[in-house]
Amino acid sequence: TGDDTGTWNRVVIEKPFGHDLRSARELNNVVSQLFSPHEVFRIDHYLGKETVQNMLAMRFANELFEPFWNRNYVSHVEITMAEDIGIGGRAGYYDGIGAARDVIQNHLLQLLALVAMEEPTSFEASQLRTEKTKVLAAARVPSDYAAHTARGQYATGWQGGQLVRGYLEEDGVSPDSRTETYAAIRVDVDNRRWAGVPFYLRTAKRMPRRVTEVALVLKQAPHLPFPATETAALGQNALVMRVQPDEGVTLRFGAKVPGTQMEIRDVSMDFVYGGSFTETSPEAYERLILDVLLGDPPLFPQHEEVELGWKILDPVLEYWDSLPTQPDPYAAGTWGPASAAEMLARDGNTWRRP
Ligand code: BG6
Repeated sequence: TGDDTGTWNRVVIEKPFGHDLRSARELNNVVSQLFSPHEVFRIDHYLGKETVQNMLAMRFANELFEPFWNRNYVSHVEITMAEDIGIGGRAGYYDGIGAARDVIQNHLLQLLALVAMEEPTSFEASQLRTEKTKVLAAARVPSDYAAHTARGQYATGWQGGQLVRGYLEEDGVSPDSRTETYAAIRVDVDNRRWAGVPFYLRTAKRMPRRVTEVALVLKQAPHLPFPATETAALGQNALVMRVQPDEGVTLRFGAKVPGTQMEIRDVSMDFVYGGSFTETSPEAYERLILDVLLGDPPLFPQHEEVELGWKILDPVLEYWDSLPTQPDPYAAGTWGPASAAEMLARDGNTWRRP
């Protein structure tokens, strides 16, 4: 990428890229006056994670999964990023930003793009971007935001055997802050593959455990030729990509419980990185910084993806801002406010307990 003087520029920008569509455009105008697009590397460290890249390997290197990767078999998709930590010493950054801007706008929408996109013609950066951009442009939160979004703020509670402070008591947080530490939204993807399949995205601080996963939950079998008493413990089949920790993939399906009855219960089939590979995964940032040095762009979002992310999220943030109420409180160390459970219940679904 050098010019004839042998010099080259690489600019690395860490997210968040703006705090809404307008500010993201302003930021981009400044950057693009000084640098050309190929010199700019926007870091979304989730794309540097081995398990996130493996989603592309799973989908496009195998024949096994593609037949059910669509609206005919998938009931809904859940993308969860839960953290057990609170905001620690980061109030200066976090207060006023909140969970949706911090994580959904970038990490979770990138995961959605990778799960939902069509196959790129190659793994060249431009081809990957084309497919990610197409799917993000087809994605939106259904307009009844009261029904299809939820926000919460952690209150004091027990976590890991310790009583921890609520968000409003954290150092540096304004005592009447309405910043959400729990955010959940439903995203619909209006295309042939996904019409009618809700994608539920949630992220929060002070959850019972740290876990990031992407779960495709399949529809129920159309007919169960067994007495209801024998299938009572049967859930929905699911393919769960565990981004972290316990990196791997789990397939959940029903199996016969040994015995004379035809009793059926859910079991798991597991791929665990540590059991199959001896190589250790590079840290996300190691991989990304190396790619910056090499000038290798596939794992870096372009401005257009950033804009599309804000277009999806801005209406929700405006709606939340317009509410006269605080985010719904949830005790630290629990799985979030009741409103988040109700959001899925309206669609006849329940959140997985990862
Ligand atoms: C960052 C967020 O992008 O991701 C933080 O700003 C969050 O709030 C962090 O804690 C989590 O990253 P990881 O890799 O631990 O899931």
